[in-house]
Amino acid sequence: MDCRNVRFCDRKADVDFTQLVALFARSAFWASERSAEDIKIAVENSDPVITAWDGDRTIGFARATSDGIFRATIWDVVIHSDYQGLGLGRKLVETLLGHPKMNRVERVYLMTTNQRKFYERIGFVKNTTTTMLLEQSPLEIDVAALADERALSAAVDC
Ligand SMILES: CC(C)(COP(=O)(O)OP(=O)(O)OC[C@H]1O[C@@H](n2cnc3c(N)ncnc32)[C@H](O)[C@@H]1OP(=O)(O)O)[C@@H](O)C(=O)NCCC(=O)NCCS
Repeated sequence: MDCRNVRFCDRKADVDFTQLVALFARSAFWASERSAEDIKIAVENSDPVITAWDGDRTIGFARATSDGIFRATIWDVVIHSDYQGLGLGRKLVETLLGHPKMNRVERVYLMTTNQRKFYERIGFVKNTTTTMLLEQSPLEIDVAALADERALSAAVDC
């Protein structure tokens, strides 16, 4: 595989959601059933968002949420299975980390089940001391959204 022409893009407007759904379905086990609509929401609320392109084909994706200075978390790092093992995953994560929203951040977190070695090659270290998790069902999320909406309309009413 010749990947010399692969380019990385940080413009959210360029994300092709149809291709992204297919990329996740093929190469990202945790995101294989996500819909384009839900991915759009995640992209809208993330910064930076990086896509990797071979011509007009989306072959990689990564995103982060960041406060720009203290903390950031990396999500959904994936390289198309045809393009893995060529150094593109490293470039993808380095492009994400080099973005102005990321490059001054004190602590960058990520969750990984089986790619620890890949991230260690890039400089990440194991961290067992700070992680906790709250799992919410869609119903709970809807209720929370409704409560927010009510608070918002109350605020507007005032
Ligand atoms: C994980 C992933 C993004 C890595 O991308 P990639 O393009 O294959 O990785 P690279 O070729 O850039 O590898 C960079 C370095 O990590 C090493 N590496 C990559 N995957 C590795 C693995 N599974 N185990 C050990 N080392 C690994 C490479 O050997 C290379 O080492 P080097 O610095 O000595 O050359 C890609 O394999 C992928 O998309 N996998 C499926 C989705 C996934 O699991 N994403 C991670 C979610 S947390």
